[in-house]
Amino acid sequence: MSISVSFQSAAQTIGAVLVPVMASEISTTFNSLTSDAIAPYLKGVDLAAVFKAMKFMGKAGQSCVHVVNGIPFVFVGLGDLDKKSVENMETLRRALGSGYNHLQATGAQEILVCVPAPKPFGLSCDVYLEQIATVLHLASYHYSTFKKDKKLWEPSLFITATDVTKAETLKTGSLVGEAMNMARTLADTPGNHMYPAVMAEKAASIAKEFGLGYTVIEQEEARAMGMGCFYSVAKGSEHEGKIVMLEYAPVNNANAPVIALVGKGVCFDTGGISLKPSNYMTGMKYDMSGAAAVFAALQIIAQIKPNVRVVGIAPLVENMPSGRASKQDDVVTAMNGLHVEIENTDAEGRLILSDALCYVQKKFDPAVVIDIATLTGSCAATFGPFYAGLMTRDEELAKELTDIGFFVGDKVWPLPLSDEYKPAIESTVADISNSGSQTYKAGAITAALFLEHFIDKGRRWAHLDIAGTDSKIPGTTYLGKGATGTGVRVMVEFVRRYMANK
Ligand code: BES
Ligand code: MN
Ligand code: ZN
Repeated sequence: MSISVSFQSAAQTIGAVLVPVMASEISTTFNSLTSDAIAPYLKGVDLAAVFKAMKFMGKAGQSCVHVVNGIPFVFVGLGDLDKKSVENMETLRRALGSGYNHLQATGAQEILVCVPAPKPFGLSCDVYLEQIATVLHLASYHYSTFKKDKKLWEPSLFITATDVTKAETLKTGSLVGEAMNMARTLADTPGNHMYPAVMAEKAASIAKEFGLGYTVIEQEEARAMGMGCFYSVAKGSEHEGKIVMLEYAPVNNANAPVIALVGKGVCFDTGGISLKPSNYMTGMKYDMSGAAAVFAALQIIAQIKPNVRVVGIAPLVENMPSGRASKQDDVVTAMNGLHVEIENTDAEGRLILSDALCYVQKKFDPAVVIDIATLTGSCAATFGPFYAGLMTRDEELAKELTDIGFFVGDKVWPLPLSDEYKPAIESTVADISNSGSQTYKAGAITAALFLEHFIDKGRRWAHLDIAGTDSKIPGTTYLGKGATGTGVRVMVEFVRRYMANK
């Protein structure tokens, strides 16, 4: 179950109203407030006096609730909307998120959401409405599987829109939000309930429901195929590792280029024999957020049907210490023949990704590879929760992904993938080491350079490190406290634009 978002119809019953307000509207003409949609409900109300009494100035982050004839009006401030359009859009997202959170207290079932004119947000009306639908779904997310007292509030939201009323836009925005919430549920689910077999089952059910191809490579098959790096991590756990693939192909274009999305799926990361201290281990259920994001992206792509092939691949493991676990100093061999010294069993993400990368390139010869992983504490320390790290040598890809990040509110920012750091992953006994060095530091970059050893020459490739953005983004009202679905919107928008740019 989830909320529904549709356009307002003429004789709609309304239980509550959400009204974003610009600071300039407080003292002037109340343009949006007296719009056709809500004017009838506000007849005879002196809003200026109401706002004054509540000290509501329409500033970003401010809100107030006023009940008119039994209908609660939630007013949320937008400030002046005088920044860059992408920043204004983020202001609106957060205002809607905060408004949604206030509406919860009213328990209203039918809510009218007043939408300001799209101009300050720099988006076409369609895209604008799509993003609003997505945000409302994201705001509605809560993880309550293990709460006796579940919040079962799932209202119907009705959007006021004057320029365009294409139901399609709200549908697309909603299915993006629903898929992201699916990914968030997977990530929020604790490790004892979410291990490789459960993830694989989920991928299979997505494939079935949305018409995607589904393949799984079992742990022993992976070993037989030469995936020694993946196997070295997988074998340490009681839960068998798996590599799952979801495939989308457009119906009328057999020769469409392939985009490969590769997601790190460590269902829990204890660090392995290089055990994490417990305060660093908390939250490591989120270490499969990359894989969850790839599943969500494929779920969305299956529904919006772009004219390009997309393969999602997720190596799924649990990183555990055990009598079968890899040890420090072990040397293992990846599918491309490279020998890897395991200097630290806690650098497991790059090990499982290396074989998945080799495999997906060999099998599909993709035009572009994007991998997404909660890969390094270093990246989280660099960016905190607001930007994912982006590493690529492809300047066009860097620019496109950065722009897209701002456009959809799922921001990424580049770090240099530079040869100077390469000695950090040299090994004395093997071809490369899985761990960086104290001399070079830059853990996010050296991890990306490790992955690059498994990318074919000339292949277009970008790496997203989401270690900082996977959960608990403060101040982002529409994302709540748990998993965030980071990276889904960036990957999907990249795929949507791909053929358009050809
Ligand atoms: N999953 C962690 C990275 C991580 C840290 C994600 C904090 C989210 C929050 C990854 O597997 C890891 O342990 N990386 C090590 C690598 C090091 C041992 C080379 C790290 O970043 O410390
Ligand atoms: Mn680790
Ligand atoms: Zn990890």
